[in-house]
Amino acid sequence: MKKWIKISVTAIVVLLGIGLSVGYTQIFPKVYNRLETPEASPQVLGAIEFDPNPVLSVDEWEARRKPLLQQAFSEHIYGPPPPDHPVIVLKTEALNGKKLGRNLTVEQISLGIGDKSEFGQMRLVLVLPKDKPVRGLIIMQNFCGNVIATRSQLPEVSSVAKPPEMCGSLMGQAAKIILGNYINAPPFERITQKGYGIAMVYTGDLVPDSRALSGPALAKLFDDKVPGVSLGALSAWAFMYDKISEALRHDPKWQSQLSKAKMIAWGHSRNGKAALLAGARYSRIDIVIAHQSGRGGSSLNRSDIGESIVQITNNYGYWFNSRFADYAGQADKLPIDQHMLIALNAPNPVLITTGNRDLWSDPASSVRALEGASPVYELYGQKGFKADKLNNSDFSAPLAFAMRPGPHGVRTIDWTMFLEFLDKHCPEIATLKTNNVLLVQ
Ligand code: GCU
Repeated sequence: MKKWIKISVTAIVVLLGIGLSVGYTQIFPKVYNRLETPEASPQVLGAIEFDPNPVLSVDEWEARRKPLLQQAFSEHIYGPPPPDHPVIVLKTEALNGKKLGRNLTVEQISLGIGDKSEFGQMRLVLVLPKDKPVRGLIIMQNFCGNVIATRSQLPEVSSVAKPPEMCGSLMGQAAKIILGNYINAPPFERITQKGYGIAMVYTGDLVPDSRALSGPALAKLFDDKVPGVSLGALSAWAFMYDKISEALRHDPKWQSQLSKAKMIAWGHSRNGKAALLAGARYSRIDIVIAHQSGRGGSSLNRSDIGESIVQITNNYGYWFNSRFADYAGQADKLPIDQHMLIALNAPNPVLITTGNRDLWSDPASSVRALEGASPVYELYGQKGFKADKLNNSDFSAPLAFAMRPGPHGVRTIDWTMFLEFLDKHCPEIATLKTNNVLLVQ
């Protein structure tokens, strides 16, 4: 009898194991091999529809091809960038950051867009290593707002805009289980200990992530100056990275700590799309990390894997201009593709990261996109991108790719990759401290 119980239990466990692993691979199928994915086209420096002369030098790239490509991304995919309104620091509040970790400081900063904040406001949580110059400031956007991201550690945090209903505390907890520990907020202490700072903002402060509400917010931000041109929310979110960089880099209050910091646009998924666009458009962004940014981010529109243009424009059309939807099912008609967006970041470092079961974000074509962007980096005399398989590439090169096991989300292993890459591109800064004043060498 005992023997039968043993056999039955073993059989149940084995069957359950098989069931779970089959289910898992069904829900999160393995990604395709890179070589099954077509190469990026058209060639970034070759003859293209709206610029028939190939590009042969950095001068030709910067003076001619780069502005034409930026214009093409605005016209065909994202809509134009918002006008370059001034950004002002409205208020700073020091917060007790003990619960976020040791040896760090926390401030909440309210920024206004426009001299009288007439175009909008945003509120940041700024976390810096205590009394240390910052080698890189990681500007990051979140989905559910700073209140939810820091609720148990920083009860004083408030928000300009209310996050969507789905971001309640129960969902916040569920999101952590499904999408990883760092889906709402990053590992603050681990980051500051390595000499980096974090400026965290909720995208909804400026333009809500909503079909219904984004329109009026975009019209306000653009000051109604672009009648007839359709606008996209990703353009506004990219602009947020730039304005945060501008505000913090120039304000005397943070000079001693931030004067040498690289300004890093970090984003996951939809925010990764915005981060790449920010790097492509704004010279105040020095480094980009786009994690699982997928369609509209680092993956090629011409690829058949993962989210299609039809799917993304049906569900999230307001992220883009209205023209992007016209390319559904005919991406080959687009005169550009996402490798060119990556190339617009040159010569700045860009890290593209993903998970081997995040098929929706199409990791394979991101590798192709990096390869396609590489000639521009080589034009600048930089190391080109090389990856023979879907694996980690050389992090000391300015274009890099890393894929860890698992699906969509932000986990400990992801932060290991991000920090490893940043360590290669953000030099450590020597300090002298006299009479409590920080002197950066
Ligand atoms: C959806 C969307 C993706 C996006 C993702 C996210 O899945 O289809 O394009 O990247 O949301 O932002 O989490």
